[in-house]
Amino acid sequence: MSETPDAAAAGTFDLDGETTVNRLGFGAMRLCGDDIIGAPDDEGNAREVARGAVELGVDFVDTADSYGPGTSERLLREAGIVDEAVVATKAGLLREAGGDWLPHGDPDYVRNQVLVSKDRLGVDTIDLYQFHRPDPDTPFADSVAAFAELKDEGHVEHVGLSNVSVEQLDEAREQVEIATVQNQYNVANREDEAVLEACEDAGVGFIPWYPLAAGDLGPVEDALDSVATAHDATRRQVALAWLLAHSDVTIPIPGTSSVEHLRENVAAASLSLTEEEVSRLTDAGA
Ligand SMILES: NC(=O)c1ccc[n+]([C@@H]2O[C@H](COP(=O)([O-])OP(=O)(O)OC[C@H]3O[C@@H](n4cnc5c(N)ncnc54)[C@H](OP(=O)(O)O)[C@@H]3O)[C@@H](O)[C@H]2O)c1
Repeated sequence: MSETPDAAAAGTFDLDGETTVNRLGFGAMRLCGDDIIGAPDDEGNAREVARGAVELGVDFVDTADSYGPGTSERLLREAGIVDEAVVATKAGLLREAGGDWLPHGDPDYVRNQVLVSKDRLGVDTIDLYQFHRPDPDTPFADSVAAFAELKDEGHVEHVGLSNVSVEQLDEAREQVEIATVQNQYNVANREDEAVLEACEDAGVGFIPWYPLAAGDLGPVEDALDSVATAHDATRRQVALAWLLAHSDVTIPIPGTSSVEHLRENVAAASLSLTEEEVSRLTDAGA
């Protein structure tokens, strides 16, 4: 692997025929305090991590209004990176001080939140606006319609979905062009393989959240370790390299609050696995 981590080594994903992003992104949820509530103890460090990501070639950064809430978006703006990366934010979840995440896909709420996020990020247009999670109390089509309107009105450039099924992806695509889907997925948890395949068929980006399973890669760890040893890499780097090799539409967004971990994660962009290694890891996670 190269000495200087460079996210560009992961190759690019084309969001719309005009905007491409390097496929190794950054998840900004972990910039917040404990339980993703409020500010971290060291806000300067959080800004340094966000800034460091862009300096290492990351040009796709994931956040949400509910991270903090508000804290992650604020820190990204304060880090001065919003104009240097595609910033993908979300609406559709509420927080409360106990730490719960409450689905809220009410169209009026979504229309309110886009204004809040635009102000907090300091942008005229949100690059990618993702519906965070379908709300059982609001018809899915009504929530998606709000995102479609926001795109028509120029508040957002691209619309994305998160935590959806293949059926919901198909339904939403009837209403508006969907640029990306963000679901939980990693080498040890491939429950949403069918959603990934649907994204491949449709040319939609697939953003695997929890790409490192926060380090707990369970039954795949032995296979990861043997591949890591062969490449003088870490288990986490191999897990990210597998995500990049497994599909052309994946855009992993590993999250960290540490500059050191950031460098390790971005360096995975340069890690090329052999076909045999990719198959071995795929079989180990099946
Ligand atoms: N759409 C959704 O519903 C949803 C849900 C959850 C997350 N997300 C997004 O997905 C992103 C990634 O998910 P995630 O942050 O939950 O999980 P993750 O990226 O799999 O793991 C992050 C965790 O692993 C640790 N870590 C990261 N790199 C490491 C390294 N090189 N060495 C050791 N530890 C390391 C981090 O701790 P340190 O801070 O100590 O590095 C953090 O606790 C989030 O940041 C967020 O943007 C979306």
